[in-house]
Amino acid sequence: MQQPVVSPPADAELAQQALAVLEANRIGEVTRPSPLLYPHQWSWDSAFIAMGYARHDQERAQRELRVLFAAQWRNGLLPHIVFAEGDGRYFPGPDFWQVERSLHAPLGAKTSGIVQPPIHATAAWQVHRHASDRRSALVFLEALLPRLAAWHGYLYRERTRGDDGLAEIWHPWESGMDNSPLWDDALGRIMFEPGDVPAYRRVDVEYGAVSERPTDHDYDRYAYLVKLFRDHRYQPEPIREACPFAVRDVLFNAILVQSNRDLAAIARVLGEDAAPFEAWADRTAAGLDGLWDAQHATYADHDVRAGGPVATRTAAGLTPLYAGVPSPARARLMVEGLLGSAVRTGDRGFVAPSLPVDDPRFQPNLYWRGPVWPVLNWLLYHGLVRYGYRAEAQQIRDALIDLPRHGGFFEHYDPTTGRGHGGEQFAWTAALTLDLLGEQDAGNPT
Ligand code: SER
Repeated sequence: MQQPVVSPPADAELAQQALAVLEANRIGEVTRPSPLLYPHQWSWDSAFIAMGYARHDQERAQRELRVLFAAQWRNGLLPHIVFAEGDGRYFPGPDFWQVERSLHAPLGAKTSGIVQPPIHATAAWQVHRHASDRRSALVFLEALLPRLAAWHGYLYRERTRGDDGLAEIWHPWESGMDNSPLWDDALGRIMFEPGDVPAYRRVDVEYGAVSERPTDHDYDRYAYLVKLFRDHRYQPEPIREACPFAVRDVLFNAILVQSNRDLAAIARVLGEDAAPFEAWADRTAAGLDGLWDAQHATYADHDVRAGGPVATRTAAGLTPLYAGVPSPARARLMVEGLLGSAVRTGDRGFVAPSLPVDDPRFQPNLYWRGPVWPVLNWLLYHGLVRYGYRAEAQQIRDALIDLPRHGGFFEHYDPTTGRGHGGEQFAWTAALTLDLLGEQDAGNPT
């Protein structure tokens, strides 16, 4: 029997499907990234989810960030997971993090003890920009400004060393790109005895395909680093000295630059002093510019322990475009590189995989070692718009929207087939689709 032909959803229907994915992931007041793999609130996921809701449900957009910041630590650290009440199985859970060892952890919330890329001020600003209830948006910004300032203040006080304004990550999870080959050398240098890794049991491999998840070798190092943090009671000073993994990551700092610009915009609209936030942005932008790799026309992470650039090149090195860091001449070279390594996943446009397909380590379905991630391409889309490459930006937008249109809202997509992999019903994929659908023409928000 012939199968009925199901035509892909048009934009309006796709937006309804994306909103339904967000709704299906609702847990209490907030939104989990996906039903089984990630059953709690994640920091940068929630910021993108707020941006997705911004044009559709102002109250939910605001609440997503408000609830996240309610779990902020007293020293300004914004935890990468806020654990939901209930039975969401996840490793590592609160018992493994043991953040009560810190004097700074909140009393009223269960959280992890590390961070994720600081996109939150940008999200808050987007929520305000698209708000229909202006007064409520101003009240929201007013409440969030001191918390955002404390969050960035934590990064500048505790995560910088020297005066180049570049924040360090101390765990691959802090990059958001957990098993990227960017971290292979740094993780490979960590020496420990088997007894140094606390006992743990992974849950992710029960819910996701083992072949699409980081390896046990990775998880041993992830767990080892968490133990080091809790042994130091999450005190930044001794961790800064002792942590064998310390990287000035390009993507993290590009996001920080733009978030500082948006924090300045928030301050201005509230009649507060924007100068300190612009100064942070300028300092980190200058530091980032120092990570320029002329040979490959991209920016390279700096490995603090090795005392030099990380050797791996990925599309994440192009994210300073998003923050307006490179000169127009450098930007042109970067765009040429992007066009050279981009892939076509459907009828329209192109996207950047998380690792170039000609890298010998490339694996099309293995998390951050090849798949297409919407979040990375969203950053590149905005970078292209910013530098006036509108046609190229439009190509990324079209291809990104078509991935869920044809294959559903997945965590990541195979760059060789366009098929979705990893977590299903994935919230930030839905949120970023909503955001891009709102940009009808590259860079012209509706
Ligand atoms: N991304 C991590 C995980 O896979 C944690 O942030 O669980």
